[in-house]
Amino acid sequence: MLVEKNVPLQRCNTFGIAARAHTLVRVHTPQDVHDLLADHRLARQPLFVLGGGSNIVLTGDVKPVVLKMEIKGRRLLEETERHWIVEAGAGETWHELVDWTLAQGWPGLENLALIPGTVGAAPVQNIGAYGVELQDRFHSLLAIDLATSQPFTLDAAQCAFGYRDSVFKHAAPLAEQEGTGLPGHWGRGMGLAGRAVITHVRLLLRKDWRPELGYLDLERRRQEEGVDRPTARQVFDWVCAIRRAKLPDPAVIGNAGSFFKNPTVSPEQCQDIIARDPKIVHYPMADGSIKLAAGWLIDACGWKGKTVGRAGVYDKQALVLVNRGTPEDSVTGGEVMTLARAIQTSVYERFGIRLEPEPVVV
Ligand code: EPU
Repeated sequence: MLVEKNVPLQRCNTFGIAARAHTLVRVHTPQDVHDLLADHRLARQPLFVLGGGSNIVLTGDVKPVVLKMEIKGRRLLEETERHWIVEAGAGETWHELVDWTLAQGWPGLENLALIPGTVGAAPVQNIGAYGVELQDRFHSLLAIDLATSQPFTLDAAQCAFGYRDSVFKHAAPLAEQEGTGLPGHWGRGMGLAGRAVITHVRLLLRKDWRPELGYLDLERRRQEEGVDRPTARQVFDWVCAIRRAKLPDPAVIGNAGSFFKNPTVSPEQCQDIIARDPKIVHYPMADGSIKLAAGWLIDACGWKGKTVGRAGVYDKQALVLVNRGTPEDSVTGGEVMTLARAIQTSVYERFGIRLEPEPVVV
């Protein structure tokens, strides 16, 4: 276990915000987590788990001890007539895992290509794109309870996945935070935020694979290319091309992907908005609610391409906030949050809808 002090985090978050970790521990194996928890000096302090830093806004130096997850490794855990189960370390790069599974001939993750971040972060916000969410390919995960140092496994139901949501985004009820044993059961609202660290993720890839082309941009692409039944690699290439055209590459322009979740409203609320704004982009959901495109709402309020201080709204996709500073003079988390609040206010004033930020604000 390597403990570092006063570590710059600018390269550890895709927004490129300059901040420091007072103490940072690089976790290469599950044993590193056990060692850290056995070190009374470190374990007494609050802990903060950092993956690829692609879904966080740093508003200052990080005082909790940062666990930088760097557990590597990917392997085929099981093959049956019906599926492959693949296991990967939390520190693997998500996109490299997607690419590798396809190279092995195991399709299923192609719609999730080019999503920034690490494998360990993928279940936390149930990453999703182009009609597929992590939960659709999830088998189980291995984690360590930070209160007791006990390893444990969670299946999909126990992860309580929702839209950009899981048990890892919710705080534990107070009684459990104070207890020493593992929570007996999990469910939405039970909460493991700050309580556990994911070490490995297992994905179940079905052999009766079919391309998932329900998303309009992909279907349009299929028609343009004149391909009837694309291979997983073709879908992967299309997804990469669509993302590159719409979303800024964090290596070039700092950002944390979509900054707000797409809100859902009741059909009545939606009718009300359509009466005033007939062009509003909306999708009916299986549960009867209507999902609205937050990007459209922000765009309609005139924010696309705007800059406030060193924070900006991406000019090709209003849902993405970007760093318009330089590495030497980068945007601060405060500037990003000021812009985010201004956007929330104008969307609320015009549409009566409260946008909820997607990234974790630290
Ligand atoms: N739109 C506008 N103006 C904009 C942006 C979008 O009018 O500035 C309209 C688009 O024309 C489209 C609709 O809004 O009709 C939806 O936009 P898009 O297809 O780009 O998808 P999204 O809802 O903005 C979501 C995810 C993305 C994911 C894409 C593809 C969320 C918060 N975002 O974006 O996820 O890649 O769908 O599935 O759910 C992320 O989470 O970081 C992320 C990039």
